[in-house]
Amino acid sequence: MSLIPEDKYLYTRSILKQFRKSLLLCYVIALIISIVGVGFWTTKEVYASADRELTLLVDMVRAARRYVAEDVRPYMLERDIFHSPAVSSTVATKHIAGHFADNQPEYYIRIVSDNPLNLENQPTPFEQEILKTFRQNRNIENLVAEGNIKDTKYLVSSRPSISRESCLVCHGVPEEAPKEITEVYGKESGFGYKDNQVVGASIVAVPIEDVNQIVLVRGFLAFIFLSLIFSIVFLSLNRLVSLLILKPIVKISRIARSVSEGNLTQSMSTERQDEIGELVKSFELMRRSLVTASKRLRRSNRRQ
Ligand code: HEC
Repeated sequence: MSLIPEDKYLYTRSILKQFRKSLLLCYVIALIISIVGVGFWTTKEVYASADRELTLLVDMVRAARRYVAEDVRPYMLERDIFHSPAVSSTVATKHIAGHFADNQPEYYIRIVSDNPLNLENQPTPFEQEILKTFRQNRNIENLVAEGNIKDTKYLVSSRPSISRESCLVCHGVPEEAPKEITEVYGKESGFGYKDNQVVGASIVAVPIEDVNQIVLVRGFLAFIFLSLIFSIVFLSLNRLVSLLILKPIVKISRIARSVSEGNLTQSMSTERQDEIGELVKSFELMRRSLVTASKRLRRSNRRQ
């Protein structure tokens, strides 16, 4: 009776199958981990970058306002010159924002008021909400929020515009306002400011890149990269396993089968120093002992 199952390929297939299964599992796990990682890392990166840009832009706008207030306005007022872009930091900011938008249209700088001189500066519903928040809570100096402006997602930083005595020159009683102002903007709106009120808000916003789209592209790249790496690993390990393990095992079992059927002449040798080499050597030792034993048996049979 043969001890080796008839279908020896059942074993070879099963080793390969197990090995392929675990490799496939590794591939799926690696894929899931990298897609989740890409999503997490991209979201963090996109928000950090929007935040950095926003800080830069806000600081730039602040610097422009200070420039007008400290470096230009006193000089102009001393000489009774009412050129608004040189006297009002709000007007100066608006001009700078206009020039900036020529080159960087996706950024958003606006000074809004629900009692505006210039009707262009009327707030959108989102901006009106911001104004309301500032009026309800006078302690807020800077509000950073995420919001949609013209169908694009933005990171928005806003500060309240608080009226001071100095604002009343232009925004106080319309009849007393410089005629440079009333000639351009009329006398209907933008006046009647009182001291220390939230009269408007300056809004600076940077677009938040579409996280989902970047994750999709990066995820696809990770998928291609991992698939390529795993294909190479899969093919080379497949080849190695079949060359180093399966082929020798098939050979050993073929010879073991023929030994079990009484054919003791087929010897095996190997240079290998590993487990398979050890198996071949042990098997060869066993075959030789069988040969000696059967010779001895034959001799003693003859003697009897
Ligand atoms: C020299 C005159 C002048 C002074 C002083 C002045 N502004 Fe203005 N302000 C203007 C003009 C002109 C505009 C309109 C700009 C435009 O065309 O968009 C304006 C616009 C604004 C706006 C945008 C909404 C609107 O009215 O169109 C706000 C808010 C504002 N000013 C707040 C202030 C505050 C707060 C102060 C004081 C700290 C101040 N302004 C001082 C002339 C002035």
